[in-house]
Amino acid sequence: MIYFALAKGRLGDASADLLERCGADVRVLREKTRKLVLESGDKKYGFFLVKPSDVPTYVEAGVADLGIVGKDTLMEEEKDLYEMLDLRLGECSLCLAGFPDRKDVLTNPLLRVATKYVRIAKRMFAERGEEAEIIPLHGSIELAPVTGLADVIFDVVQTGSTLKANGLVVLEEVYAGITARLVANKVSLKTKSEEILPLIARMKEMVI
Ligand code: PRP
Repeated sequence: MIYFALAKGRLGDASADLLERCGADVRVLREKTRKLVLESGDKKYGFFLVKPSDVPTYVEAGVADLGIVGKDTLMEEEKDLYEMLDLRLGECSLCLAGFPDRKDVLTNPLLRVATKYVRIAKRMFAERGEEAEIIPLHGSIELAPVTGLADVIFDVVQTGSTLKANGLVVLEEVYAGITARLVANKVSLKTKSEEILPLIARMKEMVI
């Protein structure tokens, strides 16, 4: 059996669709359930349903052989695993965003930046030789500038509707082309290669 770590949430449905197109019986992923461990109907695949940011942890540890996760999370988590395939799902960008009438805010000497991408943000400002106060949050990031907790946010923007609904705009697109990636545990790729490699080949056909 191949064990997958799959992200709950917006990437979850797209991941299930892709696996289905590759011939997996994933009906179980569409059922409304609170169960976190599921098996495909044909018993070929096991699924662990986890928070998106935890997918790399399960794959690095070898608890899951494969995972589907956003490039943003991979950049943030920096785990020791193989990135096998760009699945071209859920395309978004990592952006600095804030109020439209205060575009010069980015030149503030000590910019207050709210984000759930703490490591990426710290690296980015260090590379630029700029100082910033990073304010770690876990969600609803757009609330930070609205309430005065931060000057700007550093977050993923997909449709832009969350920014718009909160009166914010993109001030700078920092990393474009953030998409979902198939990742593999380094040991599993050797020990389960007969099962895993044909599946990866099928996935590759589906995304090209
Ligand atoms: C993400 C992100 C933005 C939003 C962007 O949050 O943090 O808030 O999606 O998407 P959009 O450009 O299509 O509006 P998510 O929905 O994952 O929820 P969270 O606030 O709990 O992190």
